[in-house]
Amino acid sequence: MTSGWSARVLNAFGASAAQYDASAELQRTMARQLARRCRHSAIPAGLWVDLGSGTGCLADALEQQHPGQSVLRVDGSDAMLRSQTGAGATLLHDLNEELPTWSSAPTLLCSSFVLHWLDDPPERLRHWFDQLAPGGWLALTVPVDGSFEQWHQAAERAGVPCTALPFPQMELLLAAVPEQAVRWKRKQRFSSNGRHPLELLRPMIRTGADTTPSAGLGPSEWRRVFRSWPDPEHPTLSWHVFTLMLQR
Ligand SMILES: C[S@@+](CC[C@H](N)C(=O)[O-])C[C@H]1O[C@@H](n2cnc3c(N)ncnc32)[C@H](O)[C@@H]1O
Repeated sequence: MTSGWSARVLNAFGASAAQYDASAELQRTMARQLARRCRHSAIPAGLWVDLGSGTGCLADALEQQHPGQSVLRVDGSDAMLRSQTGAGATLLHDLNEELPTWSSAPTLLCSSFVLHWLDDPPERLRHWFDQLAPGGWLALTVPVDGSFEQWHQAAERAGVPCTALPFPQMELLLAAVPEQAVRWKRKQRFSSNGRHPLELLRPMIRTGADTTPSAGLGPSEWRRVFRSWPDPEHPTLSWHVFTLMLQR
């Protein structure tokens, strides 16, 4: 049963599916990076699954780099799955639920920019790890705590709540999986620049990634946040993105 929060998240992504690719620049960059990282990891052939595939940028990149290997696209949004550019198989599934039992266990579970939308990211990560075939891999990218420092600072200075989505802590994700399973990890910082803070938030609005558990701000509160943004002449917004490769 999809919870109220999941339903809101999935509706927002569904409503933006048609325009997702045009604004998901960082997501595409990270998906390609992760696919390249997978190519260097000697992942056994078998069932490969992209969890929260969206329009399929990670699954497409993996299939391009591994001719003959297909990737199952799993997402909770039907509209996202119908916007696939590739011809790969799809499965509509709420990732807050247990993964389906497949006839053979997956040799690759991968996921890019999805885990932070789920109810309990460390617990979900552990569940995914436990579903792998012995010797199978889990390849993950996820934005983590520390992201959007400028937005948090601006809200604090403006004296209004910060309505940014809370991101999982990297340390808690790592604590959820066996240390000896970690084959590779990296945290990267990406910053975008704009003429106005609103310009920095627009890609999130356009991709449907603007659902937040907090109550929304009114127009005058938003104006105060924008006026309080650090370095207002050259506003920036930073993401901290964690990449993790695990082998069972
Ligand atoms: C930011 S998009 C990332 C899509 C793709 N992985 C990419 O890198 O472009 C997040 C995706 O997670 C999916 N998603 C969010 N919550 C979900 C849930 N509870 N169950 C299944 N999919 C979910 C959304 O529908 C959306 O396609």
